Amino acid sequence: MKYKVPFVNYPLQYHNLEKEIDAAIKDVLNRGDLLLRSDVEEFEKNLASFVGVKYAIGVNSGTDALIFALKAAGIGLGDEVISVSHTFVASIASIIHIGAKPILVDVKEDFLIDVDEVEKVITPKTKAILPVHLNGRVCEMEKLMAIAKKHNLIVIEDAAQALGAKFNGKGAGSFGLAGTFSFYPAKILGAFGDAGAVATDDEKVAEKIRLLRNHGQKPPEVVCYGFTSRLDNLQAAILNVKFKYLLEWIERKREIAKIYNQGLANISQVKLPPAPDADPRYFDVYQNYVLKAQKRDELYAFLKEKGVETLIKDPIAVHHQPNLGLSHFKLPYTEELAKEVISLPIYPELTQEQIDYVMNCVREFYAP
Ligand SMILES: Cc1ncc(COP(=O)(O)O)c(C=O)c1O
Repeated sequence: MKYKVPFVNYPLQYHNLEKEIDAAIKDVLNRGDLLLRSDVEEFEKNLASFVGVKYAIGVNSGTDALIFALKAAGIGLGDEVISVSHTFVASIASIIHIGAKPILVDVKEDFLIDVDEVEKVITPKTKAILPVHLNGRVCEMEKLMAIAKKHNLIVIEDAAQALGAKFNGKGAGSFGLAGTFSFYPAKILGAFGDAGAVATDDEKVAEKIRLLRNHGQKPPEVVCYGFTSRLDNLQAAILNVKFKYLLEWIERKREIAKIYNQGLANISQVKLPPAPDADPRYFDVYQNYVLKAQKRDELYAFLKEKGVETLIKDPIAVHHQPNLGLSHFKLPYTEELAKEVISLPIYPELTQEQIDYVMNCVREFYAP
């Protein structure tokens, strides 16, 4: 189906940068630099300085970034890690994959971890907290870091959706021992395939992740068992081109969020995300623009009919997925959100006409 307003538009972004991207790809191919070459190094430098940390290590996905960060932090079998269910399943899967136990708490009005719930579930087995900066907004990190310090817990931030977001001026991914990022194509900085990275100030963690992504090799030694999980050099070259536009894209997304917030403000059946200037502590990047909407499924169908593609990411809360063994958690607000959240298109290339059209359609649905 051809949408008037698609949810993402990969070809359009490519065509806008076609010359630069084609040149970067050709350059890499002509050099034959495919793995762990200068483009990866350049990207890692760019990323570390953008996030505000000493080291960034490129890996093949945001999921491996999480697994490696947890492993490098020494978390493993039998340890409890506190996180949320209102997230992409990868956040929780990473805890499972290292042999630890996810302890899930509810989220607050802004869809992020309810920090006040965290202390209630700490036990002698708790080793870490894994906050998720969902939708491009940073969790209440100062409060969370204070709890972590009080209880001697490690913090690994899932910042897959929050590159460039800040809390009190500090970048997502720079608060805890490590922060992880995804460059999945739909992310604000998206590769042409899978890609991810870990950001950290800790030299030992950085070194361990470099080993884990490349089978533990430090020639002639194999220091530990590892994985094939390098960030492709070609993807890094593409990301280096896109990096130049990141701040511009973030600003445009914030602008679109503001327009949506103003244009949809009077619809009582819909709860909007916080506006970009609503609280000076937060600098949100609106990876997703998520509404909590009454009659959500009907709205989705109506918008589809009108040619507006939206996304209902997790209609079943992750802890209610029958195959994951997490159904013992009772998380009322998370469960409510699974029934009510819907994401509108939000990417820098959207035109004013498209934005107006989306808003008109939403208004029309609620006030026919
Ligand atoms: C919150 C969150 N965590 C983790 C991930 C995993 O990243 P990836 O898809 O690159 O493995 C994603 C990805 O899309 C995500 O949104």
